[in-house]
Formats: sequence, C-alpha cells, structure tokens
Amino acid sequence: MTEIAGKTAFITGGASGIGFAIANALAKRGANIMLADINQAALETAKAHFADMNVGVDTILCDVAKPEDMQRAAQATLDRFGKVHLVVNNAGVGLGGEPGKIKMQDWRWIVDINLMGVVHGVEFFVPHIQSHGEGGHIVNVASMAGHGALAGMAPYHATKFAVVGYSEALKLELMPHKIGVSILCPGWVKTAIHESASRRPSGNVDMDAAENLIMKQVIESGLPPERVAEWTADCVEADRTYIFTHPEMRIGIDMRYALLKEDYSATAAHPDFAVAQDG
Ligand SMILES: NC(=O)c1ccc[n+]([C@@H]2O[C@H](COP(=O)([O-])OP(=O)(O)OC[C@H]3O[C@@H](n4cnc5c(N)ncnc54)[C@H](O)[C@@H]3O)[C@@H](O)[C@H]2O)c1
Repeated sequence: MTEIAGKTAFITGGASGIGFAIANALAKRGANIMLADINQAALETAKAHFADMNVGVDTILCDVAKPEDMQRAAQATLDRFGKVHLVVNNAGVGLGGEPGKIKMQDWRWIVDINLMGVVHGVEFFVPHIQSHGEGGHIVNVASMAGHGALAGMAPYHATKFAVVGYSEALKLELMPHKIGVSILCPGWVKTAIHESASRRPSGNVDMDAAENLIMKQVIESGLPPERVAEWTADCVEADRTYIFTHPEMRIGIDMRYALLKEDYSATAAHPDFAVAQDG
C-alpha cells in the first residue's frame, strides 16, 4: 500500500493529457503537486486549475531529455515542498516511419524523451526519496505499445518496450528501499499525442494526410484521460506492477505469449538442445 495523502508528487508532461489527469487524481487524494513540462503556457493554465484544491501546487519548465533540467527540477521540488515521494515519468512523444526512411536525429529525439526522460526522472529523484526513508512510488508511463508491436510505429515500440524492461528491473532494485514501481500501459487515450510527431527535429513527415487523420480519429475515440488517471492512483495505492486500462487489448498479450511459448517449445524439442539440457 502506497499512501498518497499528504505526500508530494512530481509529474513530467504534467501540463496536459494523461500527466495532467494523473496530477489531478493525486491532488484529489491529498498530494502536493509539482508539474514539469516544456510548455510554459500550458503549465500556467494547468496550475490555475488547482487553485481551489487544498494542496500545494507548483510548476517547473523542464525538458525531460536534458539531465540538467531534471536535476534542477528535483532541487526545485525539494526547495518548494521539502520532500518528494511520488514520481510520475509520463512525458512522451510519438514517432513512426518505415525502416530506412527514419532520420537518425528523430530516432535520438524519441529515445531521449521516451526512454532517457524516464531514466533521468529515476536517477535524479530516487536519491531524494531514499534520503527521507519514508518510502515512495515511481510510475513509469509505457503503453500497450510496450507489450506488442504493430507495423509503422517501430521507434515508439522500441522506447516503450525499453521502459517496460527498465521498470521491471527497477522494481526489484527499489523494493528494499520501500519504493514501489508501477508501469502504466494504456491503449488509446484521448489526448493530443498524435500532434507530438510534428515537433520532431527533422520535420520529416512519416504519415500522409489520410494516415494522420486515421491516427487522430483513433486517439479521439480513446479513453478519457481522467479514467486512466483514477485507476492509476488506485493501482499506486495497491502497489500494482502493471497498470492496464484496456481489457479488450488483452488478446495482444495472449498472442505474444503464445508465440514466445511456441518458439521456446521448438527449441526445447530440438535434439541438440535437449542433449544440452540433459548434460
Ligand atoms: N494518448 C495515448 O493514446 C497514449 C497511449 C499509451 C501511452 N501514452 C503515453 O502517455 C504519455 C503521455 O502522453 P499523452 O497522451 O498525455 O500526450 P500529450 O501530448 O497529450 O501530453 C504530453 C505532455 O508532455 C509534454 N512533453 C512533451 N515532450 C516533453 C519533454 N521533452 N519534456 C517535458 N514535457 C514534455 C507535452 O508538452 C504535453 O504536455 C506518453 O508517455 C505517451 O507515450 C499515451
């Protein structure tokens, strides 16, 4: 059980979308909130939303891809609230494209935000959580795209699979320190994420207008971020490892594990490997 009331939460990409909704859910349960984002105007709008809530709320401009920004954000959170207990590494962007056509600078851009942004949040905040000894919780935002792949979104899948693997290892590392780790794995959620790829450094367009429209429609038919956020807060309190939000997508997980087991069985059934196991 991870307590939320009276604790301090740091949330990246907290000015809008899923991050903002999680901040709201945590504030409703009594947590102080530090919102971090690259969008100053959205941060100010978000902060105003909390004005009537009986919790402390502050904001910081922070690009999760930059370690120096995250270090500054960690210090600012301590200066403002004294301690930090919950870290939600949520900021993320989308990027697709065909192999052989994706610009290297765009690959680095998505890895720096979606993977290294999570790593920076862990590296710069965990020592502060450990130092007060009261325990805490980290939520790393992955995706169903971290559990199964579709064609056309390889860079996004690569970063989200990485976040899942990293977080599984992190959970084992942090357990003795009373710091829980949860991995949020939503399917489609109604946010502005489909617009993020337009900010890639190359400006290269990987989708034509029709594909873009389909992506927009899929995202807009997604779950309300508020529902994802309330369930996330429930799962933090319950110290759940995986936070799944789309029961109908379970088939993707079943298919992936069926394939893994089938190919593992093929190896185990091969005489060379059977001999190696006996020996
Ligand atoms: N929307 C979905 O369908 C969906 C599904 C699964 C997982 N996710 C994941 O949820 C997370 C949040 O996405 P969202 O859908 O709310 O997107 P969003 O684009 O609506 O919100 C993302 C927020 O992160 C901020 N941000 C972007 N780059 C940043 C950076 N470098 N540093 C700090 N802040 C930055 C943006 O300004 C924005 O406020 C992402 O990690 C995304 O991959 C989203």
